[in-house]
Amino acid sequence: MSLTKRDLVTVDDLSNKEIESIFSLADQMSDTLYEQSEVCKGKIMASLFFEPSTRTRLSFEAAMHRLGGNVITAMDVKATSLAKGESIADMARVIGSYADIMVIRHPWEGAAKVAAEYAGIPVINAGDGGHEHPTQTLCDLFSLKKEKGAIDGLNIALCGDLKYGRTIHSLTYALARMGASIIFCPGDGYEIPDYVVKKLTEEYGGELRKIAANDVPSLAGVVSGDKAELDALYLTPSTPHQPALLTDIGMRVDLKQGVDALYVTRLQKERTNTSDDDVKKSYPVIDKKTLKGKEFKETLVMHPLPRVDELAYEVDSDPRSIYFKQAARGVPVRMALISMLLGAKNIEMPDVEAGKASPPIYQREFGARCHNPNCAAVHEARYIDPKFAIVNFKPLTLRCVYCERETQPKYMASTKWHQGTIENKLYHNVQSHLLAKIDTSNMLFFESEEDAKAHGFKPSRFAEKGKKGGTDQ
Ligand code: CP
Repeated sequence: MSLTKRDLVTVDDLSNKEIESIFSLADQMSDTLYEQSEVCKGKIMASLFFEPSTRTRLSFEAAMHRLGGNVITAMDVKATSLAKGESIADMARVIGSYADIMVIRHPWEGAAKVAAEYAGIPVINAGDGGHEHPTQTLCDLFSLKKEKGAIDGLNIALCGDLKYGRTIHSLTYALARMGASIIFCPGDGYEIPDYVVKKLTEEYGGELRKIAANDVPSLAGVVSGDKAELDALYLTPSTPHQPALLTDIGMRVDLKQGVDALYVTRLQKERTNTSDDDVKKSYPVIDKKTLKGKEFKETLVMHPLPRVDELAYEVDSDPRSIYFKQAARGVPVRMALISMLLGAKNIEMPDVEAGKASPPIYQREFGARCHNPNCAAVHEARYIDPKFAIVNFKPLTLRCVYCERETQPKYMASTKWHQGTIENKLYHNVQSHLLAKIDTSNMLFFESEEDAKAHGFKPSRFAEKGKKGGTDQ
């Protein structure tokens, strides 16, 4: 098993064992930072940052320089031909012929996946809108492991903007897979999105429970407003899971043992329309007083940075604060990642155990579509057909493969409609028993009856829910 020529678009592109192997190389490299200048000699990294960045861009670039490679950079959409209407696909194809590896940050969710589909070189997602930021998660996990020895069994509280915080989304998936328990402490209105929770519970075998805020009194002070309850996600070993991802499932952890890390995040103001005053009133702030609680005695204070007002400067000198160490570790972690994706370093890894089969993929140029206006596939619809994983049949649920938002189309048909006669070009309600009879490769999904009719289909007696002969609910 090797990481050579692979992409890193989502944290799920790496198994737990692969993450461990990146960390052992990062450890070696951080001890010998100045002795790595031959590792990627002659290689070029394209560094494309179409949103502001200090840490991710500069640590990637520093990493490539330390490895002896070269860097080409674009930092502003307006300074590239994207501003003239060029597609991400064309840009990626061209850059793929100039560079050996690409790092891309873009405001659209799924943009790195689009780039990866066309570049022909390894592509690393450095943040795609409010979706994911997998290399920040590598830095976070690396820090947790260094400070606490292991991830399995830790209690991690995530605080602040859990809705738009891409670092939060990638981190929750990895923590859940590695056996940590997660306590969600969102700012008011910035709760963890349903699509993230669904993935955690339905795919990773997590169990979401409400806990009384006064079970962890110090955390009750962290959440904004007078919340009586917090959401906590536990992993339970009895729940079915993907063996490839969940190699070390921890038992449910007793919250009374305290919080191992408090991961603080700023409000992603650039993704909301909220006014400064509204936010200041309700957004949680971590300061010395917060950290006095007994649950925080051994707590690491973490932050992906940049910080704004949510973490008081007075906490910087507290030995529990590790956010600047977390940022510094970005260089060796990214050195390890780049050199492994380029095939310049290989660590022997056992083959990943066979996991749960991937859900069937549904892609059509018409019918069901993604409703996330910030999805890269929606923006680039001129050449990308809507593409979904069929993650559930009852109720029928499609997940966009680019931004992971879900949609539940109401009507279906089969591409094998003709069977010799035009009269058989019929559509049905997805709640009908016919859904189970159509081969997934022949399925067609429509959002509305108008949509189905516009494509020449007529209603069958199973089109209407509740009608005689209709859906069998
Ligand atoms: N943590 C992080 O992504 O920081 P930058 O936005 O500065 O890259």
